[in-house]
Amino acid sequence: MKILIVNGPNLNLLGRREPDVYGAETLDAIMARTAARGAALGVETEAFQSNDEGALVTRLGTCAGVYDGVIINPAGYTHTSVALRDAIQACGVPCVEVHLSNIAAREAFRHTSVTAGACLGQISGLGGTGYVLALEGLVEYIGSKEKGS
Ligand code: DQA
Repeated sequence: MKILIVNGPNLNLLGRREPDVYGAETLDAIMARTAARGAALGVETEAFQSNDEGALVTRLGTCAGVYDGVIINPAGYTHTSVALRDAIQACGVPCVEVHLSNIAAREAFRHTSVTAGACLGQISGLGGTGYVLALEGLVEYIGSKEKGS
């Protein structure tokens, strides 16, 4: 099983970007512990980060037949991007949306996720651990589909 982890704009700055909101862990550290959990589950993970909406859309367009599922933190595009939602909808594999911060507890403009409706589910507010939990949930979901349940 192969899972793609997609991270949107400014997440490359984690560790020094508003650590009171997003924590002190870098994106590389979060991806490493998610990959370690994947390895324990017998699952390969690949991480992709871009600050560019078009690059995120293009990468999602290459998922079918390559990956079994996607974990995505669309970051600021969560609240604005119909193009990204359409790309999630079209990518042909199940996606789980992750947010480090609890978007429901922040500014009103963050309460709406344009992208979440195209996803299997959403995890928000648990920091980097959200990615690990998303991986566990996605792997279980894909496994249950493969068994036909
Ligand atoms: C975020 C929440 C978004 O509102 C914000 O624009 C981000 C990060 C999160 O992981 O908490 O860049 O997606």
